[in-house]
Amino acid sequence: MNYKDFYTNSINQPEAFWKEQAMAIEWYNKPETIISNDENGYPVWYKDGELNICYLALDKHIQDGYGDQIALIYDSPVTQTVKKYTFFEVKAEVAKLAGGMLSLGLKKGNTAIIYMPMIPQAAFAMLACARIGVTHSVVFGGFAPHELAIRIDDCKPKAIITASSGIEIDRLIAYKPLVDEAIELASHRPKKVIVFNRKLGARVPFKKYDVDYDALVYGSEETPCVPVNATHPLYVLHTSGTTGKPKGIVRDTGGYAVALKFSMQYIYGVKENEVFWAASDVGWVVGHSFIVYGPLINRNTTIIFEGKPIKTPDASAFWRIIEEHKVNTMFTAPTAIRAIKKEDPNGDFIKKYDLSSLKTQFLAGERCDVATLEWYLEHIPVPAIDHWWQTESGWPMIANMMGVEYLPIKPGSVGKAVCGFDITIFDEKGTELGPNEEGYVVLKLPLPPGTLMDLWNDNPRFKAGYLNKFPGYYFSGDGGFKDEDDYIFITGRVDDVINVAGHRLSTAEMEEIVASHHSVAECAVIGINDALKGQTPLALVVTKLDAEIEHFQLEQEIIKLVRQQIGAVASLRNVVIVERLPKTRSGKTLRKLMRSISDGENYQIPSTIDDESIVDEIITVLKKYEIGVYNTK
Ligand code: COA
Ligand code: AMP
Repeated sequence: MNYKDFYTNSINQPEAFWKEQAMAIEWYNKPETIISNDENGYPVWYKDGELNICYLALDKHIQDGYGDQIALIYDSPVTQTVKKYTFFEVKAEVAKLAGGMLSLGLKKGNTAIIYMPMIPQAAFAMLACARIGVTHSVVFGGFAPHELAIRIDDCKPKAIITASSGIEIDRLIAYKPLVDEAIELASHRPKKVIVFNRKLGARVPFKKYDVDYDALVYGSEETPCVPVNATHPLYVLHTSGTTGKPKGIVRDTGGYAVALKFSMQYIYGVKENEVFWAASDVGWVVGHSFIVYGPLINRNTTIIFEGKPIKTPDASAFWRIIEEHKVNTMFTAPTAIRAIKKEDPNGDFIKKYDLSSLKTQFLAGERCDVATLEWYLEHIPVPAIDHWWQTESGWPMIANMMGVEYLPIKPGSVGKAVCGFDITIFDEKGTELGPNEEGYVVLKLPLPPGTLMDLWNDNPRFKAGYLNKFPGYYFSGDGGFKDEDDYIFITGRVDDVINVAGHRLSTAEMEEIVASHHSVAECAVIGINDALKGQTPLALVVTKLDAEIEHFQLEQEIIKLVRQQIGAVASLRNVVIVERLPKTRSGKTLRKLMRSISDGENYQIPSTIDDESIVDEIITVLKKYEIGVYNTK
């Protein structure tokens, strides 16, 4: 097949194209209407189709005679466990858990939060919700109770499904006390908390609302799949925006199922029965789309990996798994490769493993620097494909569509637009830019199936954040350019969102927390370049005149505060005290200027700056703290 024709067809005839793709999945009621508009005039897909995504992921394969195929491999170096589950086994546990949830009063239209480490029960919980039409909202286990509480109040879950503990490299993390604390902090009260007890020794305080996961599954009958409308919200997944409040991305069911089947076939080029491994976390969109739903819908074996690319136990973890489970296609973030490269620069571990099963390595989640890509290609002789997408899109928007045609790779580029995504580069006024001119990455509406439907409980913010800036287009929040061959290069976020080790975080949210310290008069948090994590946050803080606190103590207290409120994953380690912040005469903080100074980029001092001498002050402080390009450590 030829990429150009396939892509052009998807853009010129979206209705016919996505009607055909919809036939690749099974429906209880096939959709008659392929595309229409919702009450706000926003495009919706397959509005009269009826399906169940848990059926597509599990029951269908059993009916087709593949019940004995391995559906899921749990590989946990941190607990030294490898456990394999067939489709029969996954379906039995999911259907009983779903039956148990029904007996607790959960039903179609309710919401449930899932706050779990990387264990199979996290995927079972998601599938059980989908089975009975409960909209799930998975919260990344690295988020602190305050973040969990925000999501509880936004989604108003009837139940929370959690586990007793998670394991980080060097410590056991007791989840249950965090859930209890979040419920205390939130205004909404979930009725039940279903706890999977891993019996690893973590403290599991008992509350009246607790239900034991194992007892619930053991005591329940299997329940069948409930048909839902294609537009039924399968999940809400919160992601960082440009304010302190995370945005609840709403995903439909029908469009998403079609898009995921399409992605597995045409982007990842994966055949049924193969092993597909996305080394991410179910708390992120990658986990939803390509650890749980995508591979299972496509009848692939998926891997739940409870570990890290390094230190569990060493930089060979990825290669061991590829050899042991005969992984055919893998997906990870460039940070993981950078971490491995740092520990094993000559690729000595790689040589010890048989990686012959691996066909393709996909990379996404953050910008992939050319050095990392080249290191990978030098050591592993398979195509390494950078591709670009977001929580909002749910599946890749720019890639090399490996199941269609393998196009030559241009290092630094994320490839070409994926079918259904009509991508343009605009300037500030909404005029299309020419080849190699950098501007805003925008997508012409309608977006294809499976992309965000709305923001949970916040349609005005959906419109304001994505649709109003350029009418008729979706604004991605990223900057970039296209070259003369239509290869697209992503240059980074154009807003206050930063990307730390593939984790999307909001500097505005961090600013709110830093500013809440009683000694802080004002502050700015910016993302600066980091050789391992891509970016890390840097807080610049001005103290109150009457603040009687040692600078060192204040810095430590701020680091602790952000860790307590957002979680360790925020990775705020650099706090510097400055006399004042650079501002325009109208009082706007010049964050971009500070970023450019820290990263050693050529910067231009805006003519609107209030006082130019502050630039030297900032440089002096960064030198003193050895931060950014002034880091000599
Ligand atoms: N629960 C609790 N804490 C967590 C957590 C979780 N699920 N995930 C991360 N954390 C903690 C870590 O323990 C660490 O704590 P520390 O500051 O006390 O050391 C902190 O959050 C930062 O974690 P992380 O960003 O993962 O850094 P790290 O130094 O532990 O590991 C890498 C660095 C590069 C190995 C790791 O970030 C990695 O594997 N990245 C891959 C990225 C990825 O998969 N992204 C998903 C999008 S595709
Ligand atoms: P998330 O919603 O967490 O998946 O983060 C999405 C953001 O990560 C995008 O808006 C980009 O800024 C960034 N991103 C994801 N993939 C890539 C990539 N391949 N190259 C550059 N940036 C990326």
